[in-house]
Amino acid sequence: MNTLLDKFKGVIDLSSREVALLSKIDPNRLPRHIAVIMDGNGRWAKQRNFPRVAGHKAGISAVRAVVETAARLSVPVLTLYAFSVENWKRPRSEVSMLMGLLKEYLRKELSTIMKNNIRFKAIGRLDELPTSVQRELQYAEDESRNNQGTQMTVALNYSGRLELVDSVNSLLRNGASYPIDEKDLESGLYTIGLPELDLLIRTSGEMRISNFLLWQIAYAEIHVTEVLWPDFRGVDLLEAVLDFQTRERRYGGIRAPSLQSTR
Ligand code: FPP
Repeated sequence: MNTLLDKFKGVIDLSSREVALLSKIDPNRLPRHIAVIMDGNGRWAKQRNFPRVAGHKAGISAVRAVVETAARLSVPVLTLYAFSVENWKRPRSEVSMLMGLLKEYLRKELSTIMKNNIRFKAIGRLDELPTSVQRELQYAEDESRNNQGTQMTVALNYSGRLELVDSVNSLLRNGASYPIDEKDLESGLYTIGLPELDLLIRTSGEMRISNFLLWQIAYAEIHVTEVLWPDFRGVDLLEAVLDFQTRERRYGGIRAPSLQSTR
């Protein structure tokens, strides 16, 4: 019996494609940390002559599907890029709609988060977000703090460069002495304590990193799909995981290290 398949059966209606993918995925070589650049909401809406915000709204179904699939797979961490520091440049109406959507998601989905044993965490310069959003984030974090399953991390008002700046500043504030090393810098990152980022997924075909997890992507495998974010579903996450498992990871060496040494 395929144990991965068992985890999904009876919980999620599986298509034959999903069954095929699940039977190919090696449960012992899952990515420890998957990050997603959820791109293409605007294009999805444009293709349908809808306002851009309709694309963001439709993107919530994709978030739901991906979180649930990652939890079923027992992926330890899933990090979603929901709002960058640069996104404040968008029209005020779009920004406030995105903030509203986030609050709505947290209110409506907290029960699903709890049911799936998911731990919720937000990262980024959270103190610059509207107070009502901060309150909602804190509530979801507090409620799910003791859950032992997948950690769902949402990057909000996030910038990879500013994360590095924040880390260095916290070292200076705490009187770090010269010279600092990688471990010191890492200790101030928002992702401290999380497993190494193994897989970065970007939707909508763009080949950019967009200031996301700049430090953490050092050895991540990158999977770019043409699928626009609102159309992304569990099956697309399974495709990405299978693609990840076909890569030979050498970490700068000449052959892939054994599983033991990378985990
Ligand atoms: C990029 O598409 C997407 C965003 C800036 C926002 C993503 C947010 C959500 C899906 C909703 C909230 C998230 C959570 C975790 C509840 P784009 O607008 O840049 O698309 P385009 O490149 O086609 O214009």
